Amino acid sequence: MSQYRLEARFNGAKTREDTRLDFALHNLSHEPLTGARLGYSSLTRVSDHATVSGADLVRRFANYHEWAMPDGLSVPPSGTWEFAYTGTELHVPKHRTDGPISAVLLRGEEALPVEVGDLACDGGDDSGSRKSVPEGKLDQPILLQPWPAEIAIDAYGPDGRICPAPGSDLDNISALATVAALHGRLFPDHACPLALSDGAAQLAFASNTILAPEEFTLQFDGPEITLAYGDEAGRFYGLVALAQMAHGALSAPETFRFPTRGRIADAPRFAHRGAMLDVSRHFWSLGKVRRFLDTMAWARLNTFQWHLTDDEGWRIEIDAFPELTAAGAVRGPSSELVGQLGYNSQTYGGFYTKAQIRELVAHAALHHVAVIPEIDIPGHCTAVLTALPHLVDPDEKADSYRSVQGYPNNALNPGIPETYDFIDKVMAEVADLFPASWVHVGADEVPDGAWIESPRAMVLAQSEGLSGTAEMQSYFLRRVQQILRSHGKELAGWDEVSHGGGVDQKGTLLVAWQRPELVRGLAEMGYRVVASPGQAYYMDMVQADGWEEPGASWAGTSTPKGTYSFDPEGGLDENERGALAGVQACIWCEYILNPRIFNHMVYPRLYAVAEAGWTPQATRDWQRFAAICHHMPEL
Ligand code: ACM
Repeated sequence: MSQYRLEARFNGAKTREDTRLDFALHNLSHEPLTGARLGYSSLTRVSDHATVSGADLVRRFANYHEWAMPDGLSVPPSGTWEFAYTGTELHVPKHRTDGPISAVLLRGEEALPVEVGDLACDGGDDSGSRKSVPEGKLDQPILLQPWPAEIAIDAYGPDGRICPAPGSDLDNISALATVAALHGRLFPDHACPLALSDGAAQLAFASNTILAPEEFTLQFDGPEITLAYGDEAGRFYGLVALAQMAHGALSAPETFRFPTRGRIADAPRFAHRGAMLDVSRHFWSLGKVRRFLDTMAWARLNTFQWHLTDDEGWRIEIDAFPELTAAGAVRGPSSELVGQLGYNSQTYGGFYTKAQIRELVAHAALHHVAVIPEIDIPGHCTAVLTALPHLVDPDEKADSYRSVQGYPNNALNPGIPETYDFIDKVMAEVADLFPASWVHVGADEVPDGAWIESPRAMVLAQSEGLSGTAEMQSYFLRRVQQILRSHGKELAGWDEVSHGGGVDQKGTLLVAWQRPELVRGLAEMGYRVVASPGQAYYMDMVQADGWEEPGASWAGTSTPKGTYSFDPEGGLDENERGALAGVQACIWCEYILNPRIFNHMVYPRLYAVAEAGWTPQATRDWQRFAAICHHMPEL
């Protein structure tokens, strides 16, 4: 057990200037505490202009804060060290997770663990508002999520296992075995409704060239079922649909039944049905990522954007630059990267080896999920620049700009030739690992004013006639696009790729995240767009207004119903709809430290996005979704 506990209280102010945080470090040890420093991570950050009492701020780096005890202070056993500051950078706390989330006590060479309590709020929270999903209501006793485009069932029968009809070929039998194994992993506590022999219902397979890719039909005729499909993905989705319905009938027979007469005709609304997972802020083991992919596949999501790099860590093995993972994948009290966003007293981190990545990509492909790697450049590059200091302009003024996350000078420099050598070598290895057509190169949140104080960047700006950060970013991204094309890939990125002149639109895919209306603007510029507005599709946003609810709130509150109700095509004309490739949920992990929080934040909102990606808008129904989502898997 830790012998120290940190608790903090917010005064409930409405402005950053008036925001006061009071801290109490409780000494639960049997020794007086003296001469120590407290380090903690907090998404609410002290301002450079804060007034402070009871401690000296000795360091702040992004979310990491380090405070020294005043000289001469000795805190006896069961006593507390109290200190406070007034004035925050960027944020006013809104939820209990907006204070310190992990801490360490530094004394000489020692790094002692500190337990951290929730941020308390003066006046408390009497709204009582918490995430809520109603019981919901079903018109038909069928477990299917996403709900199909067309369904006409007029009889239900006894449940029983489904097996391939006699004479089925190996390929079809293997496809059924893949879905049986998927069910087995997702629901090890339930009987599997699919088997290769001894089924009560028999499934005949029919490849059908009239059906489009991903499309399928299911015909029920007593114990005989026929699955017709347009391609292997359509066959997989038809099998998953069958497995879902049979799982419902077996696991919750009071609610769900299995069809014995009727037809389902189904096809997705959008080609791109995505989910992004941030593994930089918190490292998710390969097993957890694989299980997350399984839950995606169960909901017929087909694109996994793997956010592999960020300021807080680089998570992909690159042979050309072993420093990226040696120095860029670990944070902690004695690491080059300081502890951020959790686990401050430990050396914390991890990365995926090439063998692990190949294994995951193959697992995803088997379940018809494409993996788009994200290498987030030029911003969000603290881990890169820490690991590879030759990419920093030595003459750039220190702390000349800061990202919204508080990182100083965190963008790759477009005026340094080695930058492009770095990108070429990294992209060559990335292109080799991932068969998807796109590499996502981020391009989000490059701070205004980036590079302006870098003499090397200014030489470039002058020779190329570039004015300001956005134009330099566009120059940089056009070169990145050429590099990607030389490795057989097209560029994907966040909506800011379009800034300052953007890139060649042909083949480019942009994920619009900052506001729903951006889909329209990007489509008008000629880009192909994925809708992922923070206001509806960011799984790290709080799901209720109550102080108790965990998560971020810069894009507001995103209730499960709000996420479900968002129509990605709302307000778009026909041309703009034509440019919309689909939808994507984003799972940013600043606040998501463990699987329990993950489940709270991600499900069922992930399935709400999946249904927006699959089910025709006119067929969607919140009450039905709610009734079914309680039976969907979690991490
Ligand atoms: C983002 O949320 N910075 C894409």
